[in-house]
Amino acid sequence: MAQKRALITGVSGQDGSYLAELLLDKGYEVHGLVRRAAMEAPGERSENLVNCRHRLNLHPGSLESYPTIYRTIATVKPDECYHLAAQSFVSYEFDDEFQTLNTNINGTHFLLSAIKDLVPNCRFYMAGSSEMFGHAEESPQKETTRFRPRSVYGISKVASFELTRNYREQYKLHASSGILFNHESPRRGREFVTRKITNAVARILAGQANELRLGNLDARRDWGYAKEYVRAMWLMLQQADPEDYVIATGKLHSVRDFVEMAFRSAGLDWEKYVIVDPDFYRPSEKTPLVGCSEKASKHLGWFPESTFEQIVSEMVHADCKRIGVQGPA
Ligand code: GDD
Repeated sequence: MAQKRALITGVSGQDGSYLAELLLDKGYEVHGLVRRAAMEAPGERSENLVNCRHRLNLHPGSLESYPTIYRTIATVKPDECYHLAAQSFVSYEFDDEFQTLNTNINGTHFLLSAIKDLVPNCRFYMAGSSEMFGHAEESPQKETTRFRPRSVYGISKVASFELTRNYREQYKLHASSGILFNHESPRRGREFVTRKITNAVARILAGQANELRLGNLDARRDWGYAKEYVRAMWLMLQQADPEDYVIATGKLHSVRDFVEMAFRSAGLDWEKYVIVDPDFYRPSEKTPLVGCSEKASKHLGWFPESTFEQIVSEMVHADCKRIGVQGPA
C-alpha cells in the first residue's frame, strides 16, 4: 500500500506534535503548516517538535492567507488533513476579538475550499471544542446537545463546525469534527491553568517563584490526557463515514483539586503560595462542561485511559525535570 501523506496545521502545538509523532509511528509522510517565525526560531517556538522535527516536512505559511493554503494543499496533496491551528486561548471579551474570528473561521474555510478543489478525496479533521457548548442546557454534553457558545473562541469553533458539516453534506467531503474537552500534558501552553500550576510548582521548588496567582478555584473542567485525544482524531479519519464525536473523560475536577494535588505531590502546602486574583476570573460558568463520549467508545473503540492523578503527576514531574529541580519521589 502507498505511504499515506498527512498535513497538520498547528503542528508545533501540544496536539499537533503528539499527532505528528503518532502518524510518523504509523508510517505516514507528515507535513506541517507552521508560522514563518516558528521556522526561523525553531528553538524557541518548536520545543514540542524536538523528538520529530527532522522527520517532518514543514511548510511556512499563515492560515490567514488563502494563496498559502491553496499552494500548500497543491504541493502536499494530503490523504488526510488535521486542522488544529487556531487562536485557542478562551476570552470572554468581545471588543478585541476580530482576529480570533477571522483567523479561526477563515482558516477552516480556506482549507475546506482548497481541499474540495484540489484533493476532494482527502479526509479532513476539524478541532472543535467544548467551548462550543458554552451555557449548555444539559449535562453531560453530547453530540446532540445544542451549542450556546459564550466566548468569541467558542463562536469561531461553532462556525468552523458548521462549515465542516456543510462541506461534508454538500460536497461529500470526508470531513469530521472532534468536539474535544480540555486535554492536558507537559506540552500544554503555560497560559492554560493546568500548566500554569505545574510550572509554578516547579519554579517554587527551584526557588524561582514564591506565589501563584489564579482566578476561580471552584471552576470545574473535564480534563483528559492529550496523547489519547490525538489518537481519537486519527480514529475519526479511519472510519468509512465522516461524523462528529465528543471526546471527553466524563469526570469533573475543580481548579482547586488540581492545585491541591500538584502542590501536595511536591510536598508543598498550596495555601502558602496561591493567591486568588480577580484579574484571572472569568464570568460565571453556569453549567460545568463535562462530556459524554459514548458515541466515540461505541464507533471508534476509544476510551479515556489516564487518570486525573496520573496527568497531574506527569506534568509536575516534567516541569521539575525541565527546570532542573528534584521533583516528587
Ligand atoms: N487560564 C487560566 N488561568 N484559567 C484559570 C485560572 C487562571 O489563572 N484560574 C482559574 N481558571 C479556570 C478558567 O476560568 C477555566 O474555568 C479553567 O480554569 C480552565 O481554563 P484554561 O486552562 O484556560 O482552559 P479553557 O477551558 O478555557 O480552554 C481550553 O480547553 C478548551 C476545551 O478543550 C483551551 O485549550 C481551548 O482552546 C479548548 O478548546
